[in-house]
Amino acid sequence: MKQILSVARMGHPVLRTPAEPVDPARLDSAEFQDFIDSMLVTMHETDGVGLAAPQVFTSWRVITLHEGAQVAREGEEALTALINPRVTPLTEETASMWEGCLSIPGLRGKVSRPRRVRLEGLDRKGKPVDIELSGFAAVVVQHECDHLDGILYVDRIDDPRDLVFEKEFERFILPELEDEDDEEEAIEGEEL
Ligand code: NI
Repeated sequence: MKQILSVARMGHPVLRTPAEPVDPARLDSAEFQDFIDSMLVTMHETDGVGLAAPQVFTSWRVITLHEGAQVAREGEEALTALINPRVTPLTEETASMWEGCLSIPGLRGKVSRPRRVRLEGLDRKGKPVDIELSGFAAVVVQHECDHLDGILYVDRIDDPRDLVFEKEFERFILPELEDEDDEEEAIEGEEL
């Protein structure tokens, strides 16, 4: 039975614990499929763009993704769950975005990450995934895969002054980003 799960907040050790790989044989079990469905409803109920299993107190290498993140194989529907995902940078070129996180409510931070990545793993049916991503989708999967290694976006902020409250972000930083038509993009109103 799927259910809304509670979300761990920064400071809870589960967010700093590397998650365990999932045995692909488990994907056939109703219990595991229910867990993925519970992650999906939790992500949607909390307005998240992505969610990683450690954020719901489960140290497994599983992430879920909102359809809006558009993590997709060519010509197919968006992927909403990945098992044992792995990201590899495909370029040294970086892009920065103001990220948020369901486990760090109320804050935004500017993080630079590789602009283009390869994503490998399994979908929820066990079918292999191997795709290249850029833009917002690349940011989302890197943020979620970091959770599986016990890494939070705040660890990746270069300048501590680039960590701000959401309200002040919307008031002082977002208008400037919109004016400048900067390379930096803001992730507005949604958390990862
Ligand atoms: Ni997060």
